[in-house]
Amino acid sequence: MVVGFSSLFLAGSQGFLAGLPRKRPTAKGSAMIGRDGHIPVLAEECRSLLEVHQGGRYLDATFGGGGHTRLLLEACPEVSVEALDRDPAAGKRVKVLEQDFPGDRLRFHAMPFSQLDELSGKFDGILFDLGVSSFQLDEEARGFSFRKEAPLDMRMNPEEGYSAAEWLARADQADLQKAFREYGEERHWRRLAQTILAMRPEDRPKTTLALAALAEEVLPRPHGPRRIHPATKIFQGLRIAVNRELEEITEALPKAFAKLKEGGRLVVISFHSLEDRIVKRQFKRFCGQPEHRGDSRPQQDRDVLAETLTRKPVRPSVEETKTNPRSRSAILRAIRKTTP
Ligand SMILES: C[S@@+](CC[C@H](N)C(=O)[O-])C[C@H]1O[C@@H](n2cnc3c(N)ncnc32)[C@H](O)[C@@H]1O
Repeated sequence: MVVGFSSLFLAGSQGFLAGLPRKRPTAKGSAMIGRDGHIPVLAEECRSLLEVHQGGRYLDATFGGGGHTRLLLEACPEVSVEALDRDPAAGKRVKVLEQDFPGDRLRFHAMPFSQLDELSGKFDGILFDLGVSSFQLDEEARGFSFRKEAPLDMRMNPEEGYSAAEWLARADQADLQKAFREYGEERHWRRLAQTILAMRPEDRPKTTLALAALAEEVLPRPHGPRRIHPATKIFQGLRIAVNRELEEITEALPKAFAKLKEGGRLVVISFHSLEDRIVKRQFKRFCGQPEHRGDSRPQQDRDVLAETLTRKPVRPSVEETKTNPRSRSAILRAIRKTTP
């Protein structure tokens, strides 16, 4: 599955949006458009599954452009939100929301969600909207896009860890296999991995266009109706590896569950089949269900700590994918904690 992005920033569209109401109803769900033209994915579904209520305390574990945070704050005048993002740049966008919702209803923490156990108190609802934001993608210098020349960075927090270029320079065969094959789901990964491994570390790609050109040179041209650039999957896999995205979500889910009040709700939107698999299995574990086909543990050995709110994963409506094409690979799952 190719990377999906959960939010759309209608760059330069302030004029177009100017006379529009904030909430623009569509046939199913509604596209909630923030002051900055930002649309959160599956907005209505999130609000209803989180059962946002007066006096509720919520955690938005992936603040991004603040689209979902705005949605929560708008839902009821007495709702409060703690918001996290590992990207320090997200903190700058908090200011817009603070102007719109004065007082102490919103608190932002620049930190990875794998550390959310450091927050105090419990929550009525916790939301994860995984992946990268349109803001990160659209800012060329961050190096997420293979369409614009920039240093190959791709870190959600550019002050932490190794850039994608540094990661590539140090990578061995197993690292490249994981990033390109497993995370990127690129069938022809071996060709690119071998080419990179044959290069001296200092000669490996250091910019977005250098890696994109190498992928184009080495990988076969995709064909078929949904042709994508040969670098698409490579960039996706590299980004997931550099940011340790799957490890982050694996660590964070049990911590988030522990932070829910009895009756609290946990909603996760994923964009990659591997992310969704982690969420699905972990949710089954909380609900005391077999985690996969071969899981034959007797029922009495399972703790039932939660109930499923989404028997089938929720996907965006056709209307939403038209308004926000980046929402098309979104998969939402939700549970309700039934224990204290
Ligand atoms: C898809 S965007 C969220 C968009 C947001 N829901 C909105 O409507 O504006 C995902 C955000 O999560 C952040 N993020 C991803 N992984 C994270 C992690 N492990 N810890 C904290 N933030 C993370 C990214 O930096 C990005 O800003």
